[in-house]
Amino acid sequence: MNHSDELVGKAYDAKLMKRFFSYLKPYRLYVVIIIFLIITTTGISLLGLNLVAKALEYITDGKLAENEKVSFLIKFTAIYFLMQALKGILGYWQLYITNYVGQKVINDIRNQLYSHLQGLSMSFYDRNPVGRLVTRMTSDVENLAELFASGLIAFFVDIFLMLSICVMMFITDWRLALISLAILPALFAVTMIFRSKARQTYRDSRKQIAALNSYLQENVVGMAIVQIFRREKRNYDDFERLNHEMMVTNIKSLFYFALFFPSINLFFTISTALLIWQGAGSIMAGALTFPVFYLFWSYLQKFFQPIRDLGEKYNILQSAMASSERLFKLMDTPSDISGSAQGRIVDILRGDIKFRNVNFSYEKDNYVLKDVSFHVSPGESVAIVGLTGSGKTTITNLLLRFYDIQEGEILIDDIPIKDIDISSLRSKVGLILQDVHLFTGTVSENIKLGNSAITDETMESVIEYVNASEFISRLPGGFKSEVKERGATFSVGEKQLLSFARALAIDPKLLILDEATSSIDTETEQLIQQAMEKLIKGRTSIIIAHRLSTIKKADRIIVIHKGRMVEEGTHQELLAQNGIYTKLYELQYKMQNK
Ligand SMILES: Nc1ncnc2c1ncn2[C@@H]1O[C@H](COP(=O)(O)OP(=O)(O)OP(=O)(O)O)[C@@H](O)[C@H]1O
Ligand SMILES: [Mg+2]
Repeated sequence: MNHSDELVGKAYDAKLMKRFFSYLKPYRLYVVIIIFLIITTTGISLLGLNLVAKALEYITDGKLAENEKVSFLIKFTAIYFLMQALKGILGYWQLYITNYVGQKVINDIRNQLYSHLQGLSMSFYDRNPVGRLVTRMTSDVENLAELFASGLIAFFVDIFLMLSICVMMFITDWRLALISLAILPALFAVTMIFRSKARQTYRDSRKQIAALNSYLQENVVGMAIVQIFRREKRNYDDFERLNHEMMVTNIKSLFYFALFFPSINLFFTISTALLIWQGAGSIMAGALTFPVFYLFWSYLQKFFQPIRDLGEKYNILQSAMASSERLFKLMDTPSDISGSAQGRIVDILRGDIKFRNVNFSYEKDNYVLKDVSFHVSPGESVAIVGLTGSGKTTITNLLLRFYDIQEGEILIDDIPIKDIDISSLRSKVGLILQDVHLFTGTVSENIKLGNSAITDETMESVIEYVNASEFISRLPGGFKSEVKERGATFSVGEKQLLSFARALAIDPKLLILDEATSSIDTETEQLIQQAMEKLIKGRTSIIIAHRLSTIKKADRIIVIHKGRMVEEGTHQELLAQNGIYTKLYELQYKMQNK
């Protein structure tokens, strides 16, 4: 089901790289400094090797007296030490600046991603599980940071170093260079084979991780159900199978890695043997000095070091490519809600709502609302009733423009809803949902929700107004009490009252209330009913009602059945019709009528 997690492209994709590099633009200066540092430290390394060879030559050519040799060696050692110290300092800065830029870039990407997520429509969230999005924001972004900090730069350093060594070898002695590097084609072939094998196992392991993740997510979240239905044994077996498959794949990839390193060593040994064989011959023939031979030998060692690290870097590169592909895909997901930005900014002044022949489906042809038309006049309160799944919440989703309709028209103050700026629309609507979502923070933060226009006085007066002051004053910290674990410490009724206060604090023109279905004790119920009455006074309100007492207070009732509007009128009128409402009343509401 997690297609995008299995989507693993190439290990190196120029297009992705180009896009990734575009994030470096603001840090151009740093990149220039990093490149300068890389070139300098590589230069110092190679220069060091050359100096040692030169010193050996100078000492062994017999022109120096013994005491001169000692003072030369002291001087040489001092210079060599200073050079290495300088290299160390430059290396420190290279590492620091690289990681600094890496963190900056990652920070930018994460911010951009989060702001993009906030603009995506609800239908996007219907399709994408939370776990996946969290993975994008955390581990995928971190993979990119890793690529930048240890993979990418090191990769260029290595290429640069290897090329420089090749050039130096050919300049020093091209014949010896040719012989020492004779195994390069074979080395290249082995690396290619390793690459393709590593890619395959990497793909398999990504797939298995995705499967394991979604399995874990589902079953850890549903642990209560697992335990109640005593599925522990069966789930354990499923888990064990997934876990085992992952282990087998990982062991397979271990095999390739284990094979790769010794074979690189073998090549190194062959190269060294060739060098010794050819070099010793040349030395004996007087065509080569020992210091030059030593120089070659150190070059060869330096040349093979990056190849040894290749396996690890290849891994980093591969996972970073996969991550960036997924990240950019997410970043490119358009919001399904069209024209949200271009919409006219209009303040809802009257709160007049018209639905005209609205047809809507969440998925393709599976229509949830069919030919729905109604009109709510300013200041009127309308209750929507219907069986579960009939489409009541859907109507409110459309009014808030969480989704766009396929056919028909929704007008607010006689302006098509698509022409209204989304943010201005939502700022005028007070929404109270079936499930109240509380954030971590204090009670007052949960009512204000960061809106600086709401003063403490306003907040206190709305709390008083919706009958919430009594229970809040009973809390140990009053308004400043911390909300724990999404409000687990509050009762359902208390959360309702808080959400009333939250909606009222913005003084909305339009009130949408999806009444909670859970039962509440009679005392709280009364508080809620009173609060609701105050809330709807002077506002256009649409109330999805589950309680008879709420329905009776509405000016008008709309009955929705299987996505169609079937009846409309007051409680008495509808009862007199003896239709679906009457049946609903008999089934659901009558028993509440104490
Ligand atoms: N995000 C969604 N994606 C796909 N289908 C959905 C989605 N939300 C709801 N539906 C479907 O649309 C239909 C109407 O759902 P809706 O939530 O509007 O019902 P409701 O009348 O509010 O029910 P309840 O009284 O239980 O809250 C249902 O068949 C439901 O399965
Ligand atoms: Mg609902």
